[in-house]
Amino acid sequence: MRLYPRSEEILRKNRRFIPGGVASLNRSIKPEIVFVKRHGAYLCDAEGNRYIDYHAAFAPHFLGHNDPYVTEAVVRALRDHASLYGSGTTILEGQLAELICRHVSSVESVQFLNSGSEATYQAIRLARALTGRDHVVVMQGGYNGWHNDVSCNLMTPLEELGPRVSPGEYPYKGMSAGTPLDHQKLVHCINFNDLESVEYVCEKYPVAALITEPILQNIGVIKPEAGYLAGLRRLADRYGFVLIFDEVKTGFRHALGGYASICGVTPDLVVYGKALANGYPIAMLVGAPGRNL
Ligand SMILES: Cc1ncc(COP(=O)(O)O)c(C=O)c1O
Repeated sequence: MRLYPRSEEILRKNRRFIPGGVASLNRSIKPEIVFVKRHGAYLCDAEGNRYIDYHAAFAPHFLGHNDPYVTEAVVRALRDHASLYGSGTTILEGQLAELICRHVSSVESVQFLNSGSEATYQAIRLARALTGRDHVVVMQGGYNGWHNDVSCNLMTPLEELGPRVSPGEYPYKGMSAGTPLDHQKLVHCINFNDLESVEYVCEKYPVAALITEPILQNIGVIKPEAGYLAGLRRLADRYGFVLIFDEVKTGFRHALGGYASICGVTPDLVVYGKALANGYPIAMLVGAPGRNL
């Protein structure tokens, strides 16, 4: 018996025009259920079944789907403000930046972007500009966006993982295919909670930045061991790389000021994403005064 005939029909049609039938393959699911309505903590599929949304779009819907307060604010902004002036600042961006600086831990200034990937890209680019170095350290199993600096060795099959991945010896495959080999050599994938590997990479290469979620949430939840984040701070100071916390998932979830406000460690840069607007596409890169950026 077909349990989801309407969903299957929608997907069948979409597959004619979209690879896999879905705009992001991360959202491709089995069974092939298509959701057509959402409200608060619930989703409804095309057959009329109602579900509690435990997945919550990878985390940004703190207030639930379609929160009336947020929706009203978005509609008001669309109605009362131009979508793009093309020159000069806007009153709203200044108000939002002020609000962020008041509430988010150790923030001095804010740059807004559209997506988490753009924000991690800009954070790394800023780190390179600042240090004059090119190499980057990322976490095995982490996800910091789709671009070349962070998507190396992404979702690598278990049997192909090693304790430490040496660039050049390991052409990244799978979801990382398409990243130029020369670029792969700049990205060093290490294990979370492994300070020795950070030192190992820093001794061998001029590292501009280390980017990590302060709690690795992309592969379940891996908490930082006692002293790990402080150890990263110490190594950043010793080797002169920029410590970037990716708080796209942890930001606002653990504390209004972000996880950086409760873990006792001040990163140099922090990235936030769609949780900033209960799921609407916005992101920000913020500076913290841990070092002289
Ligand atoms: C920790 C983390 N960083 C970065 C990103 C990329 O954000 P975006 O999908 O807005 O580009 C994600 C996406 O889920 C994420 O979970």
